[in-house]
Amino acid sequence: MHSTFSDPSSHPSSLQLTPHPSYSILLDMTQAATALAHPNIAFIKYWGLKDAANRIPANDSLSMNLGGLSTRTTVTLDPSLRADVLILNGERVSGAGLERAQLFLDRIRRLAGNPSPVLIESENNFPIGAGVASSASGFAALALAGAAAFGLDLAEPALSALARFGSGSACRSIPGGFVEWRTDAETGDSFAKSFAPEEHWDLADCIAILSESHKKTGSEVGMRLAGTSPLQAARVADSARRMRLCREAILNRDFNALAAITELDSNLMHAVMMTSQPPLFYWQPGSLAIMQAVKRWQVEGLPVTYTLDAGPNVHVICLKEAMDETLTRLRRMPGVLDVLLGFPAGPARLLPGDSQVSLQKV
Ligand code: DP6
Repeated sequence: MHSTFSDPSSHPSSLQLTPHPSYSILLDMTQAATALAHPNIAFIKYWGLKDAANRIPANDSLSMNLGGLSTRTTVTLDPSLRADVLILNGERVSGAGLERAQLFLDRIRRLAGNPSPVLIESENNFPIGAGVASSASGFAALALAGAAAFGLDLAEPALSALARFGSGSACRSIPGGFVEWRTDAETGDSFAKSFAPEEHWDLADCIAILSESHKKTGSEVGMRLAGTSPLQAARVADSARRMRLCREAILNRDFNALAAITELDSNLMHAVMMTSQPPLFYWQPGSLAIMQAVKRWQVEGLPVTYTLDAGPNVHVICLKEAMDETLTRLRRMPGVLDVLLGFPAGPARLLPGDSQVSLQKV
């Protein structure tokens, strides 16, 4: 079965976070908030940490939010609970998943000076186990809903920095459109900022799903191994140049330049993974077959490129005008179980309605 998702503009309209917004948050007695966030795909990857305790990445990274795919999360303060409760896609979660959310909530509770346990209800609109990482959209939505439910008035950079502690890539799902995650050498501050809005460029991400199983070695464990590869130092040393080329390619809407730097960056990250001790092989034969096909399709003039995260699924990014042709070709490739679609999308946002928080822009 092939599933596609509707255009992000079909999401309910809501208050949007603009760069450096300032909101005053008026809470009623129930103290609950609902937020929606999208996953993102990195053209320049985050892989390895300079400072693990503070989740400061070894290199800057650059991504695009993926509308059509989203996580919607409601956080409700409930002092009558003995401990936090996490409901994910209708199922109660315990163990490591719950602990990760609790540790993240502890950070928000400390900031707010309020120890209340919470009920977290979270839903993804993309199939669970589809091999699309949900930690970026998940922690971005949790950061925004959690901060609002606890009455924290955080500007976008602070919210992005907060989301990073849940999952590094989540900081890039807070701002909208095309985003850079940088660490300021002087202040040590590390958060993501938008450098072009989602309307800037009509791209599509056709995500070829080759495996629906959970990754054997998650990013957190994999990243700890990055430094054991002799290639990681060279990859990090060259990252500022790749960031510059990628940013320019996007600002100039130069697809060939974007393709060249995106593929180089993905290959470099996977070279580090494959040469770590122990080595990590995320590609499957079907992943390589798609990468090789993309190279042939480019010669035929199709504006496509590829990038892979810590798994076998291939993100085939193309100009929107080439999307139908790209989808047809991908569905014919051996081993492709499904193709999901994502489009450049806006920032994480609070949703009105069942949220009991009212926001006033000031
Ligand atoms: C390969 O953000 O999932 O997708 O900080 O450990 O939660 P943690 O890692 P995570 O890593 C994403 C790695 C990547 C590349 C990227 O998205 O930049």
